[in-house]
This record gives sequence, C-alpha cells and structure tokens, in this order.
Amino acid sequence: MADAMSTDAEILGRDDVNDLEAILSIANQDVSETIHQVQDNADAIFTWDYEKGARPALDKLYEKAKTAQWNAQTDLDWGTPVDPERILIALQGSNASGPFQAITEMEDSPFAKFTEKEWIEVGVESMNWRLSQFMHGEQGALLCTANIVETVPWIDAKYYAATQVMDEARHVEVFAKYLQEKLTGFYPINAHLKMLLDDIIEDSRWDMTYLGMQIMVEGLALAAFGFMHSMADEPLLKQMLRYVMSDEARHVAFGVLSLKEYYAELTIGRWPSARSSPLRPRSGCGTASSSRRCGSAWASTPARS
Ligand SMILES: [Fe+2]
Ligand SMILES: [Fe+2]
Repeated sequence: MADAMSTDAEILGRDDVNDLEAILSIANQDVSETIHQVQDNADAIFTWDYEKGARPALDKLYEKAKTAQWNAQTDLDWGTPVDPERILIALQGSNASGPFQAITEMEDSPFAKFTEKEWIEVGVESMNWRLSQFMHGEQGALLCTANIVETVPWIDAKYYAATQVMDEARHVEVFAKYLQEKLTGFYPINAHLKMLLDDIIEDSRWDMTYLGMQIMVEGLALAAFGFMHSMADEPLLKQMLRYVMSDEARHVAFGVLSLKEYYAELTIGRWPSARSSPLRPRSGCGTASSSRRCGSAWASTPARS
C-alpha cells in the first residue's frame, strides 16, 4: 500500500496543504464558455441478466425512489417573496463584515473603508456564489449518474440510477430557478470544483464514479445542505433544501450499498489505486504544475452534489 504513504507534497504539489496563494492561483479561465466538454472513457455495458430484485436492497431503494418523486414546478411555492438580505442574516448573523474581518485588518486593506451596506452586498453575492456551486455540482451529479446507468453491470443498479438521473435533473432545475428568479442570477463554476468533476467523469471505472460522486461529493453535499437548511429561515429555500435532502439521502445509500458488495469481492491487489482515483491526483497529473492543479482540486473541494 505504498500509495497510502504518499506525502502531501507528492499528492498536492505543495508542502503546505493550506498554502492559500497556491490554492487561489487556480482560477476559472473561461468564465464565458457555455459548453464544457469532458472525455468520458467508460464502456457502456449491457446486461442480459434481467432478474429484478437479485439485489434486494437496491431493488427496495428503486421502489422507494419511484414513489418519492416530486415536481419542482408545482410542489414548491414559487410565489413566495424572497429577501436575500434576510437569508444572509439568518445564515451568518447581523454582522455582515464578520466573516471578512481578517482582510479588513490587513495593512492598507481597501476593504477597511467598506460600509456595513457594502458588506451586506458582499455577503449576498457570496451566498449567491455558494448556491451557484451547489447548482453546478448538481449538474455534475446528473452527468455522473447517467454515466452509472451505462457502466454498472447490475440491472437493479441501472434501474435505481435511472431514478437518480431524474432526481439530479430536478435538483439542477430548482437551484437554477431559485438563483435566476429569486436572486440575481448565478456565478460560473469554481475552478477546483470543475477539476474534481472532470476527474470523476473521466475515470473509466464505474466504482470510481460511485466513490467520487455517490460517496464523496454526495456526502459533502448532504452535510452542506443540512447546515444551510438548519440555519435558513426563508421558507422557499428551506422547503427546497428539505426536498433535495430527502433525495440525497437515498443517493448516498445507493453508493454505500453498491460499493459494499463490489469491494467485498475484490482482492487486495484489485482494490482501486488511490493514486489514480478522484481521491488523489490522477496518472495524467504527473507534471509539477498539473500535480498542483489536480491536488488543489481535491484539497479545496467545496460541498455540492
Ligand atoms: Fe442532487
Ligand atoms: Fe444526489
């Protein structure tokens, strides 16, 4: 298990995991692009074994998912008036400059002269940015789950993954609608999140799509949604997050159930190489600069599904 002993420098391309300058040097260079193409290297797999329920836990999850569908257009009250400043205060309290105190205290900081009103604007835009990353992450989940439908060899898993494709489409839909109709629109994808999603989609192994998206990203997203849901008092956002979270809990369970069976069958030698998984820089990230690129993606992964 030599890979497990890799140093931070080997994994991230920098000695200090929290080297802010290195992390911030990675930026989205093409914020105006409308299409982003990623090479999907996986084989599409047919199975001729149609025995439904051969995997009872997955079958149960599939049946549950079929009856738990909701309609983003009609099940949420989109007529609810939304006040972004009220959401901000609920999420971080009334001291809008609080989270930014460190940069206001830096020598010659241009932010030192910001008024409370300007800090509220910063806070609202920062919140819009966060919700935008949730939305982009949901699209990543949509593509990954469609990928799983193609690549997983079990019919019960294909059936269930098909319901998750519908779930994730609905999640993209609600975040996009909320941002566009209730807030001021959305921000481009964060460069680190983009690299992480690219890495997961590019991997040819179906268990890596599960591990990267269903376990890692979905787990983080569930925690982030749960935190925002517990703090928010804006009724539409709260209702929307509650609906999304009810789906996400199934998604994590799908990942755990599938990988539990698959990994139980693997011998040590066939376990996924950490060096080439979304948890580590991939083999294509061999150069110093690309290693830092890939390492930063993982180190700074924001929460989203
Ligand atoms: Fe989702
Ligand atoms: Fe999900």
